[in-house]
Amino acid sequence: MDRIRLVGGNELNGEILISGAKNAALPLMISSLLTHEPLVLENVPRLADVKQLERILENHGVDIAVHGRRRGEAEGGGQRMTFHAKDIVDTTAPYDLVSKMRASFWVIGPLLAREHNARVSLPGGCAIGTRPVDLFLYGLKALGADIDIDEGYVVAKAPKGGLVGTTITFPKVSVGATHTILMAATLAKGTTIIENAAREPEIGNVAECLVAMGAKISGIGTERLVIEGVSELHGATHEVLPDRIETGTYAMATAMAGGNVLLRGARAEHLQAALDTLSGSGVHITNEDNGIRVYRNGNGIQPVDVETQPFPGFPTDLQAQFMALMTMSTGTSHIRETIFENRYMHVAELARFGADISVDGQVATVHGKPQLKGAQVMATDLRASVSLVIAGLAARGETIVNRVYHLDRGFERLEEKLSRCGAEIERLAS
Ligand code: EPZ
Repeated sequence: MDRIRLVGGNELNGEILISGAKNAALPLMISSLLTHEPLVLENVPRLADVKQLERILENHGVDIAVHGRRRGEAEGGGQRMTFHAKDIVDTTAPYDLVSKMRASFWVIGPLLAREHNARVSLPGGCAIGTRPVDLFLYGLKALGADIDIDEGYVVAKAPKGGLVGTTITFPKVSVGATHTILMAATLAKGTTIIENAAREPEIGNVAECLVAMGAKISGIGTERLVIEGVSELHGATHEVLPDRIETGTYAMATAMAGGNVLLRGARAEHLQAALDTLSGSGVHITNEDNGIRVYRNGNGIQPVDVETQPFPGFPTDLQAQFMALMTMSTGTSHIRETIFENRYMHVAELARFGADISVDGQVATVHGKPQLKGAQVMATDLRASVSLVIAGLAARGETIVNRVYHLDRGFERLEEKLSRCGAEIERLAS
């Protein structure tokens, strides 16, 4: 397995081009199952999770093509890809494919809506928590589906004539359940209202794509989505929005290492809570026409307390990175993780750098230290892994991050982006 070697201490200066968002690209790709016409997606990031979902979609019969660069396109820009689900040849999503990535479970929505049946493996547990699917099943049942659990598979059947619109009030905000019911409802008969919908920008990006495909959706960006079902959707061309988690990660990396970096293409309104938190810790953040500038001039990082929340709150996907930053603050900060019950695996790894963190239930208490020291650490999940990289950027001496395949799932050209800004970082091939 590849490893990443870093030597800390260099400031970051320059520009980082923000890639397309993984968590929008995945549901957008899944949306292609809703129509027999081609869906063209622009700015798709080159990530292991995208590749994995390609395999799953191909198994359902989707033809996938990657197109070459166009005139005027930025070097290192995302991919333009076509997804063509002319015929769905298989409505089963098998265990060996689904178990590798939870978002692949979301195919159940479009398959059920278009083919009226689906057999999708339960995604199972996951390193960051139990992550059940009860909200998905609740929503699909409300649309009239008959659901059975059989040998680890969810077997879903739509009523004769297809799914039927209704009002669904989620008892808890779920990104995945919102995506899935939204996609399914576009082809349901009548009107579906989703109350307490997730409002993450990626949901809005998917909803806009569905509208471009002929869906009738109002309330985009709010917690109440209204979907008037149509009999079929058509092809469209749609752009994946910039990755707010990658943006926040590099903002925290710059805060940690010091320096001045323009995060090109980033959109502040997609991560305002995280940017406000960073400003509170003494980091300078400015909005520019072409992105967000992050600047720290060697002053100390102030401790700030945060609590993760669904959008527009502070994202759980930036909790580990923020914790890395707080390990070098001038005091004590408290971080409360409210979304996932087991998202503190990075704590033990950050301790290897000399960080002083204790966890009590949902709350991590971080006592800042003036200087971390480089260490051998192990990547555990995607966002935890990158927190180790950014800790290594500020630590004295050498850091080796093992098991970097987690990083490749969600960060495109990480070493290249950081080394262009002055970091001493390289990949050691296995
Ligand atoms: C999405 O996961 C993201 N994944 C996650 O990013 C992100 O951490 C999460 O939303 C929260 O923002 C993608 O977009 C591909 P949820 P998802 O359903 O949809 C509970 C990353 O690193 N829940 O909003 O799986 C659940 O256990 C990943 O890129 C139920 O109880 O998250 C959790 O506590 C990791 N029952 C909470 O809801 C259900 O049926 C929120 O989960 C579904 C969820």
